Parts: sequence; C-alpha cells; structure tokens
Amino acid sequence: MSLLLRGGRVIDPANGVDAVQDVLLAEGRVARVGPGLEAPAGAEVLDVTGRVVCPGFVDMHVHLREPGFEYKETVATGTRAAAAGGFTAVACMANTHPVNDNGAVTDYILAKAKVEGVVRVYPIGAVTRGLRGEELAELAELAEAGCVAFSDDGKCVQNAGLYRRALEYTLPFGVPVISHAEDTTLCQGFAMNEGVVSTEIGLPGAPAAAEDVMVARDILLAELTGAHVHIAHLSTAGAVRLVREGKARGVRVTAEVTPHHLVLTEEAVRTYDPNTKMAPPLRTKRDTEALVEALADGTIDCVATDHAPHALAEKEGEFDRAAFGIVGLETAVSLLLDRLVRPGLLPLATLVSRLSRDPARLLGLPGGSLAPGAPGDVTVLDLEQAVSVDPRHFRSRSRNTPFAGLTLTGAPALTLVGGQVVRP
Ligand code: DOR
Ligand code: ZN
Repeated sequence: MSLLLRGGRVIDPANGVDAVQDVLLAEGRVARVGPGLEAPAGAEVLDVTGRVVCPGFVDMHVHLREPGFEYKETVATGTRAAAAGGFTAVACMANTHPVNDNGAVTDYILAKAKVEGVVRVYPIGAVTRGLRGEELAELAELAEAGCVAFSDDGKCVQNAGLYRRALEYTLPFGVPVISHAEDTTLCQGFAMNEGVVSTEIGLPGAPAAAEDVMVARDILLAELTGAHVHIAHLSTAGAVRLVREGKARGVRVTAEVTPHHLVLTEEAVRTYDPNTKMAPPLRTKRDTEALVEALADGTIDCVATDHAPHALAEKEGEFDRAAFGIVGLETAVSLLLDRLVRPGLLPLATLVSRLSRDPARLLGLPGGSLAPGAPGDVTVLDLEQAVSVDPRHFRSRSRNTPFAGLTLTGAPALTLVGGQVVRP
C-alpha cells in the first residue's frame, strides 16, 4: 500500500525543507520526497494543494488516564483526540491508578495502545513509588518495559537527595527525567497565580517563585549528575531565565510549554471558570511574553499540551475545590496557529519544529522527520480553515476546556500514522 500526498507545502525542519513538494509513503514509511513525483501503480493519491505537510506532531505530555481513571479518558478516546488534533504520537504520564511505577503497568498501557490506540503511545514511568516522593520506583524495570522518560508529573519530588539518586540511576538508560517543578511549601493550597488578581478575587495563590526555586534546583542537580532534566509546563519568566542560563552553561536541561500558558493569563481566572485552573497556574502577561520569546529562540524546546481530562463533576462548582488541568489535544494546533503564527509572533516553520522534530529528538523517538525511511507519520495543516471550538464534538471523553466557543483560523486537516490516514 502506498500513498502520495501531492502538491502540498512541505515543512520538514529536520531536513531543512520548506517547499512545494510531493511526499510518497510506502510500507508504513516515507519513501520519497520531491517535486512532481510519479504515483506508483496502485498508489492512492491525495491532493493536498494549498495545505502544509509536516512530520507528525508529537505531544510529549498527555494524561491518558488508563488504567484507573477510565471515566476521564482511555487509551482509545485519548489517542482519537490526539489524531483529531493532528498528533501522531503521545507520551503518557504515570499518574494513573495504579501508578505506572513498575513494568506490569507499562506492559498494560502498551498492550492497550496496540489494540485500541490510533496513534503511537509512549509511556512515561514514575520516578517514585506511588508518586509518593519517598522511594524510587522500579526504574530499571520501567526502562526495560519501554518507558521513554521518568516523571512524577502532577507531583514534584520535594526531596533533593532522592531526586539526585533518581537522576544518577536513570542516567545509563539515556532517557530524560521530567520535572513538575513546584515547591509545595511555597504554594500550599493554591488555586491560581499569586499576585494582584488573586488578591482582588480572593483565591489562594502560588507565587512564580514556587516554580522558579525548583527549576533552579533541578538545573543544579542536572549539572551535578550529568543527567538530562526536562522541565514540564514551564510557566514563568523567571524559569525561562534560569533555563536559558543553564543551557548557556552547557547543562543538559530542556523545557516544554503548553498552549494555555502561551495564550492565556491569570486575567482569565476572573471568570471563576474552573477550566482556567491548572498546575502550574496561568501567569501574567509578562510571563506569557517571555514564554513566546523563549519558544521562538529555542530556550523552550517544544510545545506539549499537558492534556489533563477530568469529568464534569470534578470541574464544576467551587473554583477552590475543582481539579487541576484542562484537555488540550484537540485545541492545541488551532490555538497556536491562530494566536501565535497568524499575528507573526512565531514563524510557522518554528512552530512545526517545536511540535515534531524537537519533542521527538528530546525523547529519542523515531518520528519528527520526513527523510526517506522515517516512519510514515504526517500531519497536514489547513492554515485557512476556520474552526469553532465545540467540546461536544471532542473525541476526548472529557470536555474541560476554557476555549469553548472560540473561533480560530488554522487547523489540522489530516493525520497519518504509519503511512495511513487516521480517521478518528
Ligand atoms: O493541571 C494539571 N493537571 N497539572 C498537572 O501537572 C497534572 C494534571 C492532571 O493530572 O490532572
Ligand atoms: Zn501533566
């Protein structure tokens, strides 16, 4: 089976391509890329004139919730949401029930993904047993079972000595440790960012310093151990500064940013909509400006959604009591195209890189490139398509988004995994 994508604008940052070309996929892989390719006998031809053809997007921070929280999301629904949002691969966090802190849970997720998943699924193992921050998880077993990184995401390992051991222990596996950077002693009971708005509307705040203190610690521990630390959902101007400085000194630190931290500020919380509550919280305009700049200059390596599905009952009622997090897979690409690329804040090719080549490289995954022989994972964009965000139509099992009702220009048009179109 082969498939020819004809006439699209191919943006393949890994190979320095930005030109109108054809892409031939065969036997699950990229076979050829070039102008005016002949369709082999029996090949399906898709005309993608006027569209943008990219390496498949990789979301390295997703909560698929399975096992244990299937009422929020499953591998089946979460990977469909990913495909609908233009993602061909997701890495899934360990805060399931049971926690993915041993090889049996990883095996379970991979088996589910094989049978029910429609995009590639890469599990992330826990750093500590039960995410309790007390003793190390079965790290070697997790790596052996196929985990592509380690993280206690949702929680932050407060004990620096234990985190140092985790970094040392995982170093030979060649995978990053992902930090949910949050000093709990600085943000006990928070519901939003600490500042003028939290004071005005009377909600408990987390200061930017709660994140910055831990980012500083983690950079120092990366330096001490030589390990690769990746900062999840970086949200403050201070953390940007620390990562920039760490990279300049040659420390192995990388970082991701979410679409919501790029396009929303704490002002959104004035609505008291629990769908503006997440960890880390929405910050200030000064922070979002620093994040956009850092994403453009590469200080922040990639965009990841932190897709965090929750049931309606967990996201209605009092803001204080609502669960942290929002779904992101089905709105990310349109938000980024409409809010960053259209107004000229971020070049399209940079965005494509931050969604494909960069996360793939960071996790050592096979995708992120359209070179011949690469996996046939492709995301096709329609830059002119106007979409209205309607959570009722989400493939995700959950609907917790603050973006309902928005009309955005630019959307994923087609998602191909292993050379085949995924119809979620
Ligand atoms: O808002 C968040 N929700 N942040 C996290 O780090 C965890 C996530 C979740 O699991 O719901
Ligand atoms: Zn998360």
